[in-house]
Amino acid sequence: MRIVLLGAPGAGKGTQANKISHKFNVPHISTGDILRHEIKNSTELGNKISKYVESGELVPDEFIIEIIKNKISSGQLENGFIMDGFPRNLKQAKMFSEMLDELGIELDKVINIAVSEDEIINRLSNRRICSSCKSIYSFNNDGKLEKCPKCGGELLKRKDDSAEVIKNRLEVYEAETRPLIDYYSDKGLLVNVDGSGSAEEITERILKVL
Ligand code: AP5
Repeated sequence: MRIVLLGAPGAGKGTQANKISHKFNVPHISTGDILRHEIKNSTELGNKISKYVESGELVPDEFIIEIIKNKISSGQLENGFIMDGFPRNLKQAKMFSEMLDELGIELDKVINIAVSEDEIINRLSNRRICSSCKSIYSFNNDGKLEKCPKCGGELLKRKDDSAEVIKNRLEVYEAETRPLIDYYSDKGLLVNVDGSGSAEEITERILKVL
C-alpha cells in the first residue's frame, strides 16, 4: 500500500494514518512528527526549522526532501507507506514523483480528506497530544482527559494550535497545498473522502476506496 493523505490542517490525516497503518502494518510517515521530534531534541535541524513550524509556515523544501531521501535510503518505504503531511506543495510533489520513478514505484492513491473550516478550527483548538506515545486526543470526543489513557503520558497542546497560528496554517494550506488536489486529480490518483462524522466513520470510507 502506497498512499498519500491530503487535507487541511486538522482534517484528521494523523488520526486516519494511525488507524490504517496499524490495520495494514505499513509505516506512517508524518513529516510534522519528524520535524517536531527534531525540535524537541534541539538537533541542528530542529534549531533551524523551529521558527517555521511554530509560526505555521512551511519548512523550506530542501530540509523536507532530505528527510524523505533518508527514509528511502534506509529502506523504510520499500514495503509501502502512508504519507501524512508530505508532499505539501507542487515542488515537493514533483520531486516525490521523480524519487518514486527512480525506485520503480507507483503511488496507489491520494486520499483527500475534506472538512469544513469551522470544524477544523474546532478540532485543532481541542486537540491534545501525548508527550510520550504521541497519541492524538480531542477534548471534544474524548472528554477533558488529564493523562494519556494508553501510557499515562502528559497531554499537551501543540504550539501551532493557537488561534493566530491556525489562521496562518489555513492560509498556507490554501496557497501551497490545495493545488495538489488538481495535480493528483490530473494524474488520476485522487479520491475525495468526506471528513465529517466520527473518526471511525471516516476510516470506513477510506477502507472502501482503498
Ligand atoms: P503537520 O504536523 O503535518 O500538521 P498539519 O498538516 O497542519 O495537520 P495536523 O497534524 O494539524 O492535523 P491532522 O490533519 O493530522 O489532524 P489530526 O488527526 O491531528 O505540520 C505541522 C507543521 O510542520 C507545518 O505547519 C509546517 O511548518 C511543517 N511541515 C510538516 N510537513 C511539512 C512539509 N512536507 N513541508 C514543509 N513543512 C512541513 O486531528 C485533529 C484533531 O481532530 C485531533 O484532536 C483529533 O483527535 C480530532 N479528530 C480527528 N478526526 C476527527 C473526527 N472525525 N471527528 C472529530 N474530531 C476528530
